[in-house]
Amino acid sequence: MRSGGVSETLSKETSEVTREPAVRRLAYSDLPAVIAVERRSFPTPWSLAMFVLELSKPASICFAATAGEELLGYLVCCRYDRTWHLMNVAVVPERRRAGIARRLILRLFEEAGGELPFTLEVRVSNHQAITMYENFGFRSAGVRSRYYRDNGEDALIMWLD
Ligand SMILES: CC(C)(COP(=O)(O)OP(=O)(O)OC[C@H]1O[C@@H](n2cnc3c(N)ncnc32)[C@H](O)[C@@H]1OP(=O)(O)O)[C@@H](O)C(=O)NCCC(=O)NCCS
Repeated sequence: MRSGGVSETLSKETSEVTREPAVRRLAYSDLPAVIAVERRSFPTPWSLAMFVLELSKPASICFAATAGEELLGYLVCCRYDRTWHLMNVAVVPERRRAGIARRLILRLFEEAGGELPFTLEVRVSNHQAITMYENFGFRSAGVRSRYYRDNGEDALIMWLD
């Protein structure tokens, strides 16, 4: 008889599903998985070159949320002048509403050492992301009209300061 069997397989699968996500630095080797999630998450996904550029900047903070080898989500933030720009955050569709983006953002705040301000832009129709940012204390500070070229949608500008 083969080693393993149904019970071993099931318990392995259960531990894969229930394992707490870990947050670590995003690496260049994560980018193929990042691009796959990005394409499932945004109507105008970033290109590989955009991620490479952000990862290469010394002023960037980029994190991956993982479960074992699996990439569950990522966050990209860059500092210009004295302001942190939260530029990208996404989570695998099947793993949303499980606190993964929240963990990534909390880790970012920790890494920034409490330094403010943070700013970001978000589609005015992206209510779930807006709610999430509001829960972290971000507040709306105006709109960039027709900011998104695919559908002419406005961007809500949010600040945490
Ligand atoms: C927005 C996004 C990153 C949230 O990731 P997530 O891991 O599901 O978020 P979390 O589980 O950590 O939720 C954090 C908070 O966000 C809010 N939120 C997240 N999804 C929500 C939804 N579907 N409806 C309402 N509120 C939601 C809630 O306030 C939530 O806190 P709660 O669960 O305690 O109520 C995810 O939905 C995503 O990848 N969307 C597509 C990409 C995107 O829009 N990114 C943001 C671009 S600015």
